[in-house]
Amino acid sequence: MKKLSIILFLFISSAFRLTAEEGMLIPSLVSAFENDMQAMGMKLSAEEIYSVNNSSLKDAILHFGGGCTAELVSKQGLLLTNHHCGYSQIQSHSSIENDYLKYGFWAKNKGEEKKNPGLTASRVVRIQDVTATVLQGTQGLSQSDKLLKMQSNITALIEDAIRGNQYSADIKPFNYGNDFYMIVKETFRDIRLVGTPPNSIGKFGGDTDNWIWPRHTGDFSVFRVYANSNNEPSDINDSNQPYAPLHFLPVSLKNRVPGEFTMVYGFPGTTEQHLSSENLRFIMDQERPARIKMRDKSLSVINAGMRSSDLTRIQYASKQARIANAWKKWIGQIGGLKTVDAIQIKLDREKEYNKRAASKSAWQDKYGNVIEDMNELVIKYKGADFGYSMAIEYLYIGPELFKRARTINTFLSNYEKYKESNSLDAEIEKQIKGANAFFKNYDENIDKKIFQLLTEEYIKQVGDGPLPERFKNVDIKSLADKVYANSILTNEVRFIKFLSKLKSKSFSKLKKKDIGFMVWSESDDNFRKNIIPDIRVYKGTMDQMLKLYVAGKVEMFPEINHWPDANSSMRITYGKLEGSAPHDGMKYTNHTTIDGVIAKNNSDNPDYDLLPRMRELAKDKDYGDYAQDGELWVCFTGSNHTTGGNSGSPVIDGEGNLMGLNFDRSWESTMSDFMFDASRCRNISVDIRYVLWVMDRYANAKHLVDEMTIVRDAK
Ligand code: ARG
Ligand code: GLU
Repeated sequence: MKKLSIILFLFISSAFRLTAEEGMLIPSLVSAFENDMQAMGMKLSAEEIYSVNNSSLKDAILHFGGGCTAELVSKQGLLLTNHHCGYSQIQSHSSIENDYLKYGFWAKNKGEEKKNPGLTASRVVRIQDVTATVLQGTQGLSQSDKLLKMQSNITALIEDAIRGNQYSADIKPFNYGNDFYMIVKETFRDIRLVGTPPNSIGKFGGDTDNWIWPRHTGDFSVFRVYANSNNEPSDINDSNQPYAPLHFLPVSLKNRVPGEFTMVYGFPGTTEQHLSSENLRFIMDQERPARIKMRDKSLSVINAGMRSSDLTRIQYASKQARIANAWKKWIGQIGGLKTVDAIQIKLDREKEYNKRAASKSAWQDKYGNVIEDMNELVIKYKGADFGYSMAIEYLYIGPELFKRARTINTFLSNYEKYKESNSLDAEIEKQIKGANAFFKNYDENIDKKIFQLLTEEYIKQVGDGPLPERFKNVDIKSLADKVYANSILTNEVRFIKFLSKLKSKSFSKLKKKDIGFMVWSESDDNFRKNIIPDIRVYKGTMDQMLKLYVAGKVEMFPEINHWPDANSSMRITYGKLEGSAPHDGMKYTNHTTIDGVIAKNNSDNPDYDLLPRMRELAKDKDYGDYAQDGELWVCFTGSNHTTGGNSGSPVIDGEGNLMGLNFDRSWESTMSDFMFDASRCRNISVDIRYVLWVMDRYANAKHLVDEMTIVRDAK
């Protein structure tokens, strides 16, 4: 994957060409890449990046809320992540009176830092290859016995790892089960909000600029990790103290040098580099376009609502961002994959794979059919796969009435149990609280419109696939009218009234009489009975084939470096600070400056709105130490292979200092989830000097900057 392979590549000809920057390494294996990284300008040793016995960079990097990355930057547990990663917390503390989304928030002292129930941040204690132990004693067993044996091996390993300590452990398959790693972690549960810039900085450019370069977003927010008096994780508690980390990242105000070494350390979520050509074709031509259409519909409703009312803007901020983010990424992915003709590249690779396999009869026996098998399987299950994606879009991303239905269904299924254990009243109280929180961010008219449009689109898309009876030959608009005028799920007053008069019979009444609940349960039933079973068989079979395919790739192509797909485990990727030229006649420079913020603001696009203070400060051009050659850098790009989950990840220079926070990729790069192309794929980061300038000059929160260790160029 890295330079080594390039050199080797000069001597071989392979469609499987991997490039200098491709790949996401397992940190415990980083020593294999030490030489290559040092050749690119890294001054650190592998041991300084990842060590089990000594503190190392790894200890400064936390998995934030299970979906993003964050890094410790002070000895008092100060934690940086993206604005969009802290977005739901920021939103939860916001109201019309205290509009932190619009104006930002800065705690003046630790007492003002805001608690966030449910938010966690985890440190990786160690990563351990446990493949041999997981597979111990499984040889010659039948498939089902093998799984049982593996499960008991896994349980024993985990029990061992967490005995007598405050850790948890997890064993994850890598390379579709060719390898297993145990990840031991320490999860902090008291993570407080310290500060956030206003949306006009932290989300500057909004959806217009999301996934786009040139970029000018100050996408950061500030938290602090709290621990008990032993510096160990604790539930939220006033007596907790700021956590004293094993390592925190020094912050670099040094001039950036084009081409310098950069490393991104974090928790990338999912990549799918090994999909077969038919699978990629299905995604590009059928699945993604349909999902995009579903989201076009819901976004049209939500965006219009948010434009016309401040209350709706606050209520739907987080939901809208979530729906729009993947929607826009998919559009970029399809565009990029088409431009490079990814299907042809896949076909070439498949040909190369089969050619290798044919060169040795043992290989031919093992690997000779796997590609054809995968492609046939895709064709066989395309319909089911499509139905599955559409059901996810409809039932899980679509109208929120379904979310309410799921919650109440789970609760009522346990009704008798609660009653027997005398916990019914407490459980009802919980339901009421949950409903209050839900309806706070809900608008009946918006949800109704979404229900109507998405039901219509779902029916159109699924067509001859399995559909609930109720949807056949009915007018969806009048169905929507009926549901939203009567169902307890769509209105807070009706819902609370239902809960307050709850009886044993209520559940069966709901099932028989509530039209909203009926629409959900019939759709959900259809999903479970007619779609899920096929998908189980499909995914299970495909994973077995992919396992074989990857094993073959590793065995038959020893000259290239192989990397396991992202799976939300900790990874390292490295590259350099550089721009790109993905379009004919155009070049992207490697960074943007605050001048570009003002230039964008001089348009009438509300995504580029600024608060007056920002314009004043930009006019003063007082950048202090944060400038480079008189410019204040805002964002920069690098050739680091990242994906969703890498948000908030530190971009670290050759000496282990923090240069910026990764938060995005350019549109031309989003294809890297399926296929990395070194000439176009760039990650986008906010420069830490801009982050500090905003804290110091914009927010008057210099005390936070003073908590950090600052590294400067020698004068
Ligand atoms: N595209 C980035 C990521 O995948 C940022 C998303 C948040 N920003 C937004 N405008 N929705 O998470
Ligand atoms: N914004 C993404 C995230 O939340 C990172 C961008 C990407 O997908 O590369 O993780």
